[in-house]
Amino acid sequence: MADPEAPPVETAGHVLERGKRLSDSLLWKLQRRFFDQQGVQAWTEGTVPHYITSNAWIAGAYAKVVLGWLRDACAPSSQRGSFAPLDLRHPVHILELGCGSGRFGYLFLNRFLDLLRRSSLSHVPVRYVLTDFTESNLDYLRNHPDLQPLVESGSLDFALYDAEEDLELRLSHSGEVLSAQTLRNPLIVLANYVFDGLPQDAFSVRGGKLYECLVTLAAPEEEPDPEDPGMIGRLQASWDERPSPPELYGDPELDRILQEYVERPADATFLFPCAAIRCLRHLARLSDGRLLLLSGDKGFSREEVLPGPGEPAIAVHGSFSMMVNYHALGRWFDHRGGELLKTRHLYSSLSMVAGLLGTPPGGLVETRLAFDEAIDRMGPDDFFDLKKSVEKQYDELPLEELLAWLRFSGWDSNILLGCFPALMQRVEGAPEILRREVHRAVHEIWEAYFPLREANDLAFHLGVLLCEIQRYEEALSFFHQSVALYGPNPATVFNMGLCLFHLGDLDAALTLAGQAVEGAPEYEPARVLRKEVKAALAKRAKKKRLKKGPKGARKRAGTPR
Ligand SMILES: C[S@@+](CC[C@H](N)C(=O)[O-])C[C@H]1O[C@@H](n2cnc3c(N)ncnc32)[C@H](O)[C@@H]1O
Repeated sequence: MADPEAPPVETAGHVLERGKRLSDSLLWKLQRRFFDQQGVQAWTEGTVPHYITSNAWIAGAYAKVVLGWLRDACAPSSQRGSFAPLDLRHPVHILELGCGSGRFGYLFLNRFLDLLRRSSLSHVPVRYVLTDFTESNLDYLRNHPDLQPLVESGSLDFALYDAEEDLELRLSHSGEVLSAQTLRNPLIVLANYVFDGLPQDAFSVRGGKLYECLVTLAAPEEEPDPEDPGMIGRLQASWDERPSPPELYGDPELDRILQEYVERPADATFLFPCAAIRCLRHLARLSDGRLLLLSGDKGFSREEVLPGPGEPAIAVHGSFSMMVNYHALGRWFDHRGGELLKTRHLYSSLSMVAGLLGTPPGGLVETRLAFDEAIDRMGPDDFFDLKKSVEKQYDELPLEELLAWLRFSGWDSNILLGCFPALMQRVEGAPEILRREVHRAVHEIWEAYFPLREANDLAFHLGVLLCEIQRYEEALSFFHQSVALYGPNPATVFNMGLCLFHLGDLDAALTLAGQAVEGAPEYEPARVLRKEVKAALAKRAKKKRLKKGPKGARKRAGTPR
């Protein structure tokens, strides 16, 4: 960090802005344009990391905490100062901020509704609202076929919501407006990888004095379009400091938190989540101070781990992100008489917190219990670490253990794709009892899957597994799904021909085998299949009826593309 007394540092390259307050920087505008332009492609093409916040494990963990909190909200009143019981004539709303691909929302809602239905709270009406600031994401989700049943049952709606400024939301399916006047029940808010992309400021404290860190952005060459989000990856940030008054914002809530950092004994450079705090303030107003926030991000939730002297770090992944100062958000909850639950250990990839505002009638016993079990003891961050380690061992794991891992993960499609080669090897020659479990796994994984048309074709892989356990009819329907999502790839067409061959539909098998040969002339198994189907047809023509399907060795499905 440049010395505040020294003249500004010389910056190499073409300067786009110099000495800006971080929250006013061009960076945030570029970020918004990035998401606006990319829409769902930001996730389907793997540009923006999202597995850790969009898998069955984190969805299950959040579902358990939300259910715990609802148990507290529905319990008989045992606490002074608690908020009123829920008004069950109106739904409890769960808002997901910055929902992105919608995969987390889909996984969460299905898991949560399943838990709710089987619990003593099955009578509590709940409505999940997928929100984002850009129509590009919402449009895609409104039209996603897998979300339609949830919309039609009244469990799901959508709303444009800009976390930087909006005070209320209009639901696009029901047309209802959620505002401080209309909202009857407390609010549950889920925000993963959202606060790290909202405007923040940067400060450093040295010897009890506060300095504001000002950003200068430069690009190696002149940028023809100053609004092109593609330049995010080309920008170089450098920092200067200027002395700052602790009441910089002229906003008592923000200034009070900032002042507390000036009073801490150790020197530090830290980010100040000014937009996230304002967003929480809006949500608190909307819910009349009755709020559960669940959030996961890269961030610091404890004062003692706030970084020491240094420069704020900016990570680029198509968009960019900065660490979230959950500690400051925690102070905001504290000042409002609430609290921030955090894990006892330091996170490795994803820091997770629960912000609580207002006391439910039953207190917070069930909420704390659920947070402890689902986030602190075996949370999404632990699951992610474990996954990284288990996936190195796939070649050594027997079929039972691969299946146990899939069950444990909540039938995670990413895990299936990762261990697919090992599964294929083990399934051949496996006892019937395990083949039945493979069959179940295929259907559970497909059931839990939210298709986004990513490069890896899950339906194809599941079809191949089904062929391996000789469930040709079901395999065929997975190959049809694959064609519907990805088009008629020759490998898929070959596998469809193979299924039909084993099912005894030789005419259709011949057509498909022919198409597969045409599509991929170098693919030997397709030519072999075509030859065998022709031979079988010739035999049939000689009225040697095939009684139990065609003779000859069973053929294996073509391996993935
Ligand atoms: C990094 S993505 C995270 C998406 C998703 N929550 C996940 O975990 O994969 C950030 C999301 O926040 C949205 N976003 C960015 N700025 C926002 C704002 N001011 N208000 C609401 N959403 C915003 C983006 O459109 C994007 O969907």
